[in-house]
Formats: sequence, structure tokens, C-alpha cells
Amino acid sequence: MSSNTFGVLFRVTTFGESHGPAIGCVVDGCPPNIALKAADIQRDLDRRRPGQSRFTTQRQEPDAVRILSGVFADRATGEDVTTGTPIALLIENLDQRSKDYSDIKDVYRPGHAGYTYDAKYGVHDYRGGGRASARETASRVAAGAIARKIVPGLQVRGALIQMGPHQIDRARWNWDEVDRNPFFCPDAQQAAFYADYLDGIRKRGSSVGAVIEVVAEGVPAGLGAPVYGKLDSDLAAALMGINAVKGVEIGAGFAAAALSGEDNVDEMRMGNDGKPRFLSNNAGGILGGISTGQPIVARFAVKPTSSILIPRRTVDRYGRETEVSTKGRHDPCVGIRAVPVGEAMVACVVADHYLRQRGQVGTPVKWPFDPPKV
Ligand SMILES: Cc1cc2nc3c(=O)[nH]c(=O)nc-3n(C[C@H](O)[C@H](O)[C@H](O)COP(=O)(O)O)c2cc1C
Repeated sequence: MSSNTFGVLFRVTTFGESHGPAIGCVVDGCPPNIALKAADIQRDLDRRRPGQSRFTTQRQEPDAVRILSGVFADRATGEDVTTGTPIALLIENLDQRSKDYSDIKDVYRPGHAGYTYDAKYGVHDYRGGGRASARETASRVAAGAIARKIVPGLQVRGALIQMGPHQIDRARWNWDEVDRNPFFCPDAQQAAFYADYLDGIRKRGSSVGAVIEVVAEGVPAGLGAPVYGKLDSDLAAALMGINAVKGVEIGAGFAAAALSGEDNVDEMRMGNDGKPRFLSNNAGGILGGISTGQPIVARFAVKPTSSILIPRRTVDRYGRETEVSTKGRHDPCVGIRAVPVGEAMVACVVADHYLRQRGQVGTPVKWPFDPPKV
């Protein structure tokens, strides 16, 4: 009822607040005998970690993950493997500065969840957004690192493809560039432009939004469930559930509305591997809520950071009008650190549907079928 859990068979429950002692998650439903050590999870957490460049918040959190349960040394190799029991992960909060928020403890920061949490619960955890803080997304990234290990051959990668109004040039897309610049941007030339652009935004005490694209390759055909468990609707819910996300598209997305039917359909031919070969991917790898075997392509739009130095009008808990300017440590573009979070959410949804497919259908359907005998 409280909605801190998602997934059907691969179930993730997260807990913790921005300024509490720790955050973390419990991952239930992970199959046994999957090699898992903290370093596998840490690699992904380090990509999301704050304070790594001048373009993200200067909050210094090591985000060191501890595996509290659900693994045990394999008899043959001595390496830890999953046991099939709940995997509890803990990440301590070490660099909270709650006093940054004490001056505005009764004031709702516009664009934040302070007012809505108060309207719902009547409790106002003003310290860095409490449970609504994107600190929670570290737990999702940790769960995603486990999810990535469940589907054989799965590769989920994300990239920032637009900052403010400035899009990348897709002709220059190079996945190797993504980890070479502080923006997870696949276009090196545009990344250089973003550095100057974002410096200007940050110095003005302002912020900008971004668009992120996540591509999942190695997803077998047949994952997803009609009609209320569609893969695309679960992906949309998972991505929309990330803090500051205001829009999600799959494949051609909103642009599909402007295409003609003949341009939009992904025509089919036979590939050399005995599987269908689609001549385009406007569907984003999903038809009828079920994966086609093509890469799954999802994009999401992240709003500009609400905590800015430029004063904004607001009200306080007692109904008094006031103004607020946020002086704490913040990302000038939260879309940057949203990239690994988007990857993690896609990995969790794909892993969940992979296990559901295995549970319901078992052995994959043998395709193509034998033609009818005449
Ligand atoms: C990785 C990440 C980091 C974020 N950091 C900040 C931040 O430093 N300052 C801020 O105002 N919002 C930040 N946000 C967004 C807020 O958490 C979010 O806007 C707020 O909780 C209200 O929720 P909503 O925008 O989803 O409606 C961040 C979001 C993400 C994904």
C-alpha cells in the first residue's frame, strides 16, 4: 500500500531518507547461484555518485555498499553467489548537512515534494527532501546491478542526448564517449559544448533539464505480458518513477504521431540467424507490450533542478507567503546523474519480465514454426 516496492517476481523494496543514517534496499526473488560481490554493485553506484565533477552536487558521499544478506560462498569456487533469499543492501549517508536546511524548515521549496508530502502525511522532513530526495535513487542503482546479472547477454546502456534545448548530433553517437565526459554524452563535440553551457547556467544560480536515452540489447523476443503488464507500460512506470522525470517515450515515441503508417511500421525480413530482421525500430523493441528481440529504446525527460539560487515565490507550512533561494549543494542539471538510474530501472523491469516469462512459459518457444504439411 505504501508503494516502496516494485516488480512482480524480481521485487525491489527501498528504504531511507536523504539525511537519515543510511539508505538501502531489499531485493527479493533473485534466482540462486548467481555470482555477486559488492564490487559488482559498487561499479554502478560509482557512476551515479555525487561530487565527481563541478557539474554535479558537491555532497561527498562514498556510497559504499554493504551486502547484508542473500549471498554465500559457492562450494566449488569460494566466490559469493546468491542464495535465492532476500538480498539486503545498505549504503550509509555520511555527508548530510541538515543545518543547510534549518533556515527554511517551514518553507516549501517550489518544485519539490515538501508541500505534497505535508498535504498527504502532515509531517515535514525538510532535511534535503527526506524520502522524496533523489538520494533514494542510489538504492535503485544497486538493485539494477543485480538485475543486470539475471538475463543472459543483457546489456543496458544510457546516454544524455539533450541538455536544455541543445540536442546531440546522432550521427556522432559513440558509446565509448559516454564514460569519457562528465555528462554521459555519446557525442564528444556536444559534451565539450555542454561544459561551457552548464558552467554559465551554474554561475547564474540557475539550472536546466535533460533528455536521457536508455537502450537495452540482448532482450529475447517474448518478454512482457498482455494486457495490463505490458513491457512498455512497466518501463514507462519505472522511468516515470525516477525523481524529476516528466515524460517517457518508447521508440519513435511522440514523433510517431507525425509519421505515416508506411513510414512508421518496422518492416520484416528474415535474418541470417533464423530470426526476423526488422528494417527499422520505431516500435522501440516492443509490439503488443511484448519484446520483439530488437533493442529496447526508451527516452525520458528530466525537469530542471528546482533548488536554485535565484529567489522564487512560495508559501510556508502556516500559509504565509514568502520567497526562497536554495543555498545548499545541488546539481545544476539532475539529468546527468539520472543516466545510471534510468539504466537500473530498465534492467530491473527487463529482469522481472524475464523471470515472469520463465515462470509461465518455461522453455522459449521454438520459432519459426514448421510450415503446415500439404
Ligand atoms: C540523480 C538526481 C539528483 C537530484 N538532485 C536534485 C538536487 O540536487 N536538487 C533538486 O532540487 N532536485 C534534485 N533532484 C530532483 C528532486 O529529487 C525532485 O524534483 C523532487 O523530489 C520532486 O519530485 P518530482 O520532480 O519527481 O515531482 C534530483 C533528481 C535526480 C534523478
